[in-house]
Amino acid sequence: MFLTSYPLTLLQTLVLALISYTTYRLYTHLRLASAHRHLAASKGCKSPPNWRQSPFLFGLDIFYNSYKDMKAHCSLENTRTRFWALGANTVQMKLTGATLFSTIEPENVKSVRATDFKNWGLGEGRKLMLVPFIGEGIFTSDGAAWQHSRDMLRPSFVRNSVGDCDIFERHVQNLIKAIPRDGEMVDLQPLFLSLSLDVATEFLFGESTNSLSADDVDAETKEYARAIDHILKVLGGQEQGGLTFIGLMMGLFPPNWTLKGEYKVVHNYVDGFIDRAVVDKRRYELEKVILDDKPELPGRRYIFLHELLDRTTDRLKIRSELLNILLAGRDSTAALLSNMWFELSKRPAAWARLQQEVSALDGALPTFGQLKEMKYLRAFLNESLRLYPILPENNRTAQVDTVLPLGGGADGKSPILVKKGQIVLWSIHIMHRRKDIYGEDAEEFRPERWLDTEQGQGLRVGWEYLPFNGGPRICIGQQFALTEASYVTVRLMQEFNAIESKDPEPWREMFTVTCQGLGGCKIVLTP
Ligand code: HEM
Ligand SMILES: *[C@@H]1O[C@H](CO)[C@@H](O)[C@H](O)[C@H]1NC(C)=O
Ligand SMILES: *[C@@H]1O[C@H](CO)[C@@H](O)[C@H](O)[C@H]1NC(C)=O
Ligand SMILES: *[C@@H]1O[C@H](CO)[C@@H](O)[C@H](O)[C@H]1NC(C)=O
Repeated sequence: MFLTSYPLTLLQTLVLALISYTTYRLYTHLRLASAHRHLAASKGCKSPPNWRQSPFLFGLDIFYNSYKDMKAHCSLENTRTRFWALGANTVQMKLTGATLFSTIEPENVKSVRATDFKNWGLGEGRKLMLVPFIGEGIFTSDGAAWQHSRDMLRPSFVRNSVGDCDIFERHVQNLIKAIPRDGEMVDLQPLFLSLSLDVATEFLFGESTNSLSADDVDAETKEYARAIDHILKVLGGQEQGGLTFIGLMMGLFPPNWTLKGEYKVVHNYVDGFIDRAVVDKRRYELEKVILDDKPELPGRRYIFLHELLDRTTDRLKIRSELLNILLAGRDSTAALLSNMWFELSKRPAAWARLQQEVSALDGALPTFGQLKEMKYLRAFLNESLRLYPILPENNRTAQVDTVLPLGGGADGKSPILVKKGQIVLWSIHIMHRRKDIYGEDAEEFRPERWLDTEQGQGLRVGWEYLPFNGGPRICIGQQFALTEASYVTVRLMQEFNAIESKDPEPWREMFTVTCQGLGGCKIVLTP
């Protein structure tokens, strides 16, 4: 009896399991759908208009277009044109079955970045792409881990923002030496990249890469700089053909397996700094005990890494935070400088006006306070970051069911339901060019729009201007970057009297992990 009924029982068990599983799935599905309906109804949510895409291709046409645009260096421009053509500020699209939202609405960005901050996370994209390279740190983590990083790093930036410009001068001297004075053309972009690397390593490690001073670049530094450039190009989809890029977009191939060796180069290089800092700090503390009456040794500078060593002894953690900051800070500051000088070289009137502002210093090195007083310089910086934001696009994933305040319905005035796991993209680039915000001349480079005149007040902005983003995750290095860009610009203007553009092309994008100018900054400077 046992034997004969056995197969039947197995079958019965299987059927029973299948039934209960299906019922359970159906039940959770219905419950979720009902929760969504309730939330949507209670907030008055409606769907936003659809992005233009084929209903049969599961978004493959979107992937293909963005791949094609990226290769042609016009994805910002083409996406902008498509957005304007739809006439909506928030849209939805379907990618491989998932719904994504895309917005250029300041209210929505504010909600994601500030008012509804805790309901949004980085999603897997950034982590998958960057963690094998720079590790878990402030730029790549979420939630409690991110908060911990932020709390640990913030004091160092507050202290720095008091404004010590000494750190820049030696590197600016090297930069000036690297610029030809005999009318030969120079591309400032790679020089700015070296400069910001030299400054950032001095600030972070207490020891600069000195990549600008041609005599003492060691082989290790060259190798490190080469590896980093290669990594950023691959991660940004500029190298290794299309396969890696499409794979990246689909989250199929984390690019780390092609780059493992390069990561090792970078990690070893940074570990070298940490090892030396540990020794250096120990020696310093010993000397401090001996010279007890002198708490600060003469010539002792503030060093970020030494402060970090006070707060944690976890070397991997320290390396990750350093690389996180280096990644976030190096290319972005260089890109800002390069974009500024690209525009400056094409605008004699702006050059003259800036020269006049700088001449107030009478040739003296600018202080932090004086840089802050330079209104036209700041307006020029602001305008450059408006038209060429360094992180032109960003996105977050909903951690729970939540809502965006605007964009639903035909008039775009209703909230939108965003379900857990869905992604919201926003384009700072397009938002910064909205005519209803910045006026009919929104696409024009016009620093004057920021300045008060007798005719009226200059531009006042909130969430519609986000070069550094906003809310709890606002760029931690904003002040550092603005001070560096201002200092370098003023010093170069003190050194050179005339500028001439050698690049007739308009600005075009090049994505690495940030977005820089494709043509660099080709100019002639005359003393
Ligand atoms: C012009 C130069 C810069 C621009 C335009 C810029 C822009 C940004 C933006 C938009 C974010 C937000 C990214 C996001 O949340 O998805 C950010 C974050 C960050 N930036 Fe910057 N940045 C610049 C320079 C710097 C510098 C010089 C440093 C460091 C020395 C730095 C360190 C960071 C860090 C650590 C974060 C992550 C903050 C967090 O998630 O809590 N940035 N930056
Ligand atoms: C979201 O942003 C990350 C970088 O922060 C990027 O890797 C990812 O591809 C983006 N996701 C989408 C769907 O665009
Ligand atoms: C690559 O990244 C994935 C996911 O982040 C990880 O599981 C894997 O171990 C990494 N591989 C290497 C070679 O680093
Ligand atoms: C530049 O933009 C900032 C907002 O990021 C604003 O507070 C400041 O007033 C602007 N300054 C000038 C001179 O335009």
